Amino acid sequence: MTVAADQTLPNLWAGLEKLPEMDEQQFERWVSLLRERTGMSLPRERKSFLVTSVGLRMRELGYSTYQSYYDFLTSGLAGNVEWTALVDRLTVHETRFFRDPNALAFVEQICMPTMADRIRRGGHVQLWSAGCSTGEEAFTLAMLMDRYLQREQVSKRFGVIGSDISLYSLATAKQGAYPMRRLKYIAPELRDDYCETIDSGGFRINERLRRRVCFAQFNILHAASTPAGSMDLIYCQNVLIYFDRETRERILNGLVRPLRVGGTLVLGAGEMIGWKHPAMARVGGTDVLAYRRISE
Ligand SMILES: C[S@@+](CC[C@H](N)C(=O)[O-])C[C@H]1O[C@@H](n2cnc3c(N)ncnc32)[C@H](O)[C@@H]1O
Repeated sequence: MTVAADQTLPNLWAGLEKLPEMDEQQFERWVSLLRERTGMSLPRERKSFLVTSVGLRMRELGYSTYQSYYDFLTSGLAGNVEWTALVDRLTVHETRFFRDPNALAFVEQICMPTMADRIRRGGHVQLWSAGCSTGEEAFTLAMLMDRYLQREQVSKRFGVIGSDISLYSLATAKQGAYPMRRLKYIAPELRDDYCETIDSGGFRINERLRRRVCFAQFNILHAASTPAGSMDLIYCQNVLIYFDRETRERILNGLVRPLRVGGTLVLGAGEMIGWKHPAMARVGGTDVLAYRRISE
């Protein structure tokens, strides 16, 4: 008995052993890789977060040094696949349905009437939840839009795109299935219209609404490469906070391109101070940070 235990113990408990030290040069290497590929800036104060996230993942895969794991990540196809797993560990995915009531009231009262008018004139409207995590934000927008058009008796020619860099979060989003505790954020009348309980004990967004929403992996750093003038609303909250000011400006400048003239960009209150763009005008009150595209 003791022989088998002696052989298996080291691997079994490896996860509890202290992670190796990461020297400054190695830390800088990881920070640069992260910045280069995701745009995220990791300040020195978050070194222990980086070491824990990278270290635990490296151990799961059986690498004993940061450099050997780094070499694996930066070479070949398998490294690219592993990169998506690591990015998932390094990003924060916290979200919930109807997270920012002020911004959503603004969207409903100020943006939706304009969007409904476009549909009345024969158009089709497109909303984008950029950095949607597990999908709650995209479904929130879809519920609000669907209910608004229903109330106004306007044809439901709209779609919602949810995008994120994390494939793991997007896998949940695509299912549209959530634990029961998240249901409390959805108003009872909306639950009846858009949610259904599932056998596993949670609930799922019903198929009618899920058909309105599609999810795709997209790095927001590449916003400027999206089709010009295609979006009526871009909703991007709690994403910019992970980037330094210069990168935030680059992302926002990029997000102008996919916005059609008259379309609106909604950010989280206080997420960007002093951004100016010749084609954009600040709209919304003190508790809503939004910009309308006013020219080509
Ligand atoms: C805190 S969540 C915000 C979710 C949602 N927008 C909300 O406010 O509830 C931040 C999300 O941004 C995503 N993210 C981080 N860097 C990104 C990038 N470069 N491109 C796209 N998404 C990114 C993360 O994967 C994460 O799901």
